[in-house]
Amino acid sequence: MLRLWRNLEYAETCDALVLCAFVTPLDRSIQAPCITINYDPGMNADSSDHGSGSAPRRRRPRYSGTHPRRFDERYKERDLEKYPDIEAHVRAQGRTPAGTHVPIMVEEVVAALRPAPGETVADLTLGYGGHALAFLTHTAPNGILIGTDLDGTQLQETGRRLEQAVDPQRLQLHNSHFAGLPKIMAAQGLVCVDIVFADLGLSSMQIDNPARGFSYKHDGPLDMRMDLRRPITAAEVIRTISPDALATALDDFADEPEHRQIALAIVRRRSEQAITQTGDLVDVVLKAKGWTRRTWRDAVAEGASELHPAARTFQALRILVNDELHGLEQLLRVAPYCLRPGGGRLGILTFHSGEDRRVKDALSEGLRSGVYVRVSEEPIRPGPTERRENPRSTAAKFRWAVRSAQ
Ligand SMILES: C[S@@+](CC[C@H](N)C(=O)[O-])C[C@H]1O[C@@H](n2cnc3c(N)ncnc32)[C@H](O)[C@@H]1O
Repeated sequence: MLRLWRNLEYAETCDALVLCAFVTPLDRSIQAPCITINYDPGMNADSSDHGSGSAPRRRRPRYSGTHPRRFDERYKERDLEKYPDIEAHVRAQGRTPAGTHVPIMVEEVVAALRPAPGETVADLTLGYGGHALAFLTHTAPNGILIGTDLDGTQLQETGRRLEQAVDPQRLQLHNSHFAGLPKIMAAQGLVCVDIVFADLGLSSMQIDNPARGFSYKHDGPLDMRMDLRRPITAAEVIRTISPDALATALDDFADEPEHRQIALAIVRRRSEQAITQTGDLVDVVLKAKGWTRRTWRDAVAEGASELHPAARTFQALRILVNDELHGLEQLLRVAPYCLRPGGGRLGILTFHSGEDRRVKDALSEGLRSGVYVRVSEEPIRPGPTERRENPRSTAAKFRWAVRSAQ
């Protein structure tokens, strides 16, 4: 059983900012009431491997050939508790097991944020819990981890795993937008935390699962919601957005040079037939850029090293569906007032220029206004070994700031 605080709406959170502005030393004896939720494997559309004792037995997925290829066929990788030997086997092939996530720059994050025994850390993007576990290790024996994630399924699964590793009393997990941190803290009677950390974007579990619709590599419903409680999917955005707004999003959120052609191609296609699958969108973008699936495959086979033609479109759409940059701006506004004055630390990992620019500007502005006493001058980047071993780390940039005493 895991304690989860749910449904704290980030839109209402800025009221709590005032409360956080008058910081006093953290009182760890204060405990907020919480809602206790039983694990509900049925909540997870993808949870067939985590069934309870009473769930009907399912047949294992059948696949052609000797090795599973598709996400849903990789049932062993997605249940490493049950099949522990698989992890080493898959990693030896240079892959990340489906349904897991390799945390990025953990050493660098820990070195910059210096979590210490007894401290309270807000890991606002819990994901698979890799960074969270590092924070819990360094804040042992009694440090608290406040973890948030928009993805309720992921939060539950990671919560279960973390509970096996540390005293559950040290975990406070919330299915919430990260900009809701002030409200979460207020509900728990906390006036400040020692560390606020966010690792933006998606986890590998989300990207690799075709049912979530984030990937141009696998066909699936065009969904792209991190938070499945939100009503608007990527298919709905594609159905309703104006060509101008779409072209602007492709340009602003993903630097797509052919934003206008792609926007027009999407609008033309949707007037003939609804675009509801990721594969449909890939086809439209390939055609708008003068490719077919075959010519692109041949180009890759001949060593083309460019990004997939649809990658930027998928990135822009995902940012749009989840209103990511607006959410990040809100977080950057409230974060300094959640940190302990005179030493609280903020750390943010970004993955594209739109995110990094906002973080950089907010930290510089915080330094100028005096709310931060020190900020990272240059972003910290993953080293060559990490980039080689985990290509998803390639674009990562890490920036940090230290709260001033005022
Ligand atoms: C890159 S992953 C984090 C990986 C994690 N650091 C780890 O070590 O496993 C990003 C996670 O943040 C979540 N997320 C993204 N934006 C969010 C937001 N605005 N509020 C809360 N969670 C968010 C995603 O659902 C995803 O699970």
